[in-house]
Amino acid sequence: MEHLIRSWDGEYVVVRYDGEAGAWMFIAIHSTTLGNASGGSRMKVYDTPGDGLRDAQRLAAGMTYKWAGVDFPLGGGKGVIALTRRLEGKERDRLLERYGQLVESQRGAFSTGADLGVGPELVKVIGRETTHVFGLRGAGDPGPYTALGVFTGIQTVAAVLFGSTDLADRTVVVQGIGNVGLPLCKKLAEAGARLKIADANADRAAGVAAELSGEPVEPDAVYSEPCDIFAPCAVGGVLNAYTIPQLRCRAVVGSANNQLAEPEDAQRLHNRGILYTPDFIINSGGAIALCGMEALGMSDDYVVRKILSVSDTLNSIFEEAKENGESPVAAAERRARRVLERGPA
Ligand code: PHE
Repeated sequence: MEHLIRSWDGEYVVVRYDGEAGAWMFIAIHSTTLGNASGGSRMKVYDTPGDGLRDAQRLAAGMTYKWAGVDFPLGGGKGVIALTRRLEGKERDRLLERYGQLVESQRGAFSTGADLGVGPELVKVIGRETTHVFGLRGAGDPGPYTALGVFTGIQTVAAVLFGSTDLADRTVVVQGIGNVGLPLCKKLAEAGARLKIADANADRAAGVAAELSGEPVEPDAVYSEPCDIFAPCAVGGVLNAYTIPQLRCRAVVGSANNQLAEPEDAQRLHNRGILYTPDFIINSGGAIALCGMEALGMSDDYVVRKILSVSDTLNSIFEEAKENGESPVAAAERRARRVLERGPA
């Protein structure tokens, strides 16, 4: 962990070991160039505490790009609670309260909200101990807002690839039906898309598939499942040297943070002719809603318009990438870096 912290290109990491739960807490602050750091808090079981730290650092960097991508005056940070075993009930809540105290101790240098393993209900538990938490007023659950952005991105990509935003009979594979995946599936079903649904919890996948007239898919089969669009909405690192050759989709448009296992994967997708929407652009809807409404005083209407504008952003990224013969990730990162170099608007 010493090496991870020393060699990081971010600003600093706050670490607390929680003896009671045997859990590690990390708050990684990647960049405050545009403002105070804000990002969700994730709680899951990791093989080692170092894996949790690395996740926090990478996710925090993703938030720096996410805020720059929408030009919000906020910095990149992320919280990770690295568990050694699953926690339930009171034990879990007490850990989250202690995590809330750690967030509070930062006195606003880091504000947080929902992420994988920390749904809207658990955000309330963190919020017992700190005011620096989003999702309790105004925006509420960020999941549907993130899903709105991803859905809009899927329509945008359909227009680029197939000449129309119409999703009727387009096949979409959705990986993960959590707080974003589920509302996304509902919107896709309404739009007439053919759904193939996978989740780590197979019963849940089967239930949602039955409800939305979709088809359940085995978790391991998602990559090779033929489809128009693959939507990873669960963990990160799912696009890698092993999975990319298996893909049988035309585009990848999903909500998961850090979808690429390593930077080279952007080029791997590009070489295969698969259109990839950079995660930090496509999944910014929840962040826009939470912080837009609860920190920056934006109205619900304004926030929704801002989320829908992801379509214009994607189109200009695709154009810039095409002109330069590069992957959309390269174009999107350059765009974000321009904002970071300029500084807060
Ligand atoms: N965790 C979500 C994201 O990565 C939502 C979130 C954004 C939560 C910003 C808190 C702050 O976008």
